Amino acid sequence: MVRYLSLPSPCWVGPITFLFLPLPKKDGSDKRASLTVVHKHGPCSTLKLDKAKAPTVDEILEQDQSRVNSIHSRLSKKLSRDDLSASKDSTIPAKSGSTIGSGNYIVTVGLGTPKKDLSLIFDTGSDLTWTQCKPCARSCYQQKEPTFDPSQSTTYSNISCRSSVCSQLTSATGNTPGCSTSTCIYGIQYGDQSFSVGFFSKEKLTLTSTDVFNNFLFGCGQNNQGLFGGAAGLLGLGRDALSLVEQTASKYGRVFSYCLPSTSSSTGHLTFGKSAGTSSAIKFTPLSKSAQGSSFYGLDIVGISLGGRKLSIPTSAFSNAGTIIDSGTVITRLPPAAYSALKAAFRQAMKKYPSTGALSILDTCYDLSKYTTFSIPKISFSFSGGVNVDLDAAGILYAQKTSQVCLAFAGNSDDSSVGIFGNVQQKRLDVVYDVAGARVGFGPAGCT
Ligand SMILES: *[C@@H]1O[C@H](CO)[C@@H](O)[C@H](O)[C@H]1NC(C)=O
Repeated sequence: MVRYLSLPSPCWVGPITFLFLPLPKKDGSDKRASLTVVHKHGPCSTLKLDKAKAPTVDEILEQDQSRVNSIHSRLSKKLSRDDLSASKDSTIPAKSGSTIGSGNYIVTVGLGTPKKDLSLIFDTGSDLTWTQCKPCARSCYQQKEPTFDPSQSTTYSNISCRSSVCSQLTSATGNTPGCSTSTCIYGIQYGDQSFSVGFFSKEKLTLTSTDVFNNFLFGCGQNNQGLFGGAAGLLGLGRDALSLVEQTASKYGRVFSYCLPSTSSSTGHLTFGKSAGTSSAIKFTPLSKSAQGSSFYGLDIVGISLGGRKLSIPTSAFSNAGTIIDSGTVITRLPPAAYSALKAAFRQAMKKYPSTGALSILDTCYDLSKYTTFSIPKISFSFSGGVNVDLDAAGILYAQKTSQVCLAFAGNSDDSSVGIFGNVQQKRLDVVYDVAGARVGFGPAGCT
């Protein structure tokens, strides 16, 4: 059992957007770049950008379901070309009111010469990096930093429609590129009505003062709408050739890791490079074949334990559709049979606490407002390769108030939908993406 002496402050759960700040390198010979992770929004944030517009937990969970629906469509290839071009259309409005892309993480990078700092949402579930660009020919949403202006950079250039990299957009975005006065045009959409369309370009990208990439391919967005909050765009860390991971492969060897902190007052990290995850505490599970050919990183869950006891879940429940790990999905989605077993065991272990109503997609909630001390059962995930990962206490519950504290898992609606290991469950773990070694690693308490 994980025992709390008192209820943590509300900011330990709830809106979880992080800001990645460059960290000075300790050792110049080290072939990696490390960035510090802190909370960007939420009750304890010191940044408090646009606090009035911060979404409720309900809105975050609703947006999370949109992302999951989109992932399910992409992986089951139900999305037709017609659907794609329709959602690219500029007449589709972004959802109002949810202007902060919560449940996402922000990394600050430098673009152009002279370099301009831009806060981008980082996403292991997509590939193309893009930022809003002047003159915003059709539309730009409000962002925190000044909008990137390619005309003020000496290192910017457009990609021609005839270039072979232009055709790579098809796999990176799922959309065939367009052509406008010989400039390659990209379009990408994210299933929750968010999209970006603009010029496909190359530019100097500065991750840290010593880690600079010339000719980084990115989207210079001229028509952008959606739930990106104050972020200037998106940083794609998926598996496609156009992702940051592939474009920086010669320097970082297709290895990166991160740790998402459990509270807004603590810090985590995002690290690129071969020495990420060399600690012996990191245990690796093979990247699974199930999500191969997509942007996603697949892994195989083989079992779940609660309170040290393995739940009775047929292995086929997991192998049916497979599982992906995603930095952008908030709540872990399990196959129906696995979620039922987890929920039943959790309810049994928590039966002395008064239960309360559902919170959006979360159906196992408790009113803990009268308790100063409470215990929750330990939950561990077993992945193929004999890897057992104990979730951090912060990775089990989700709530914004003590009167409604919920089990932070949800079931998929059917067995054919892919499972998703979401970012609440990844909290405080060191998560290592070793794409070159075709494996994903987990280590305990990588940050606080
Ligand atoms: C990039 O292409 C667009 C569309 O053809 C054009 O308006 C713009 O001036 C070009 N920018 C540069 C720097 O060539």
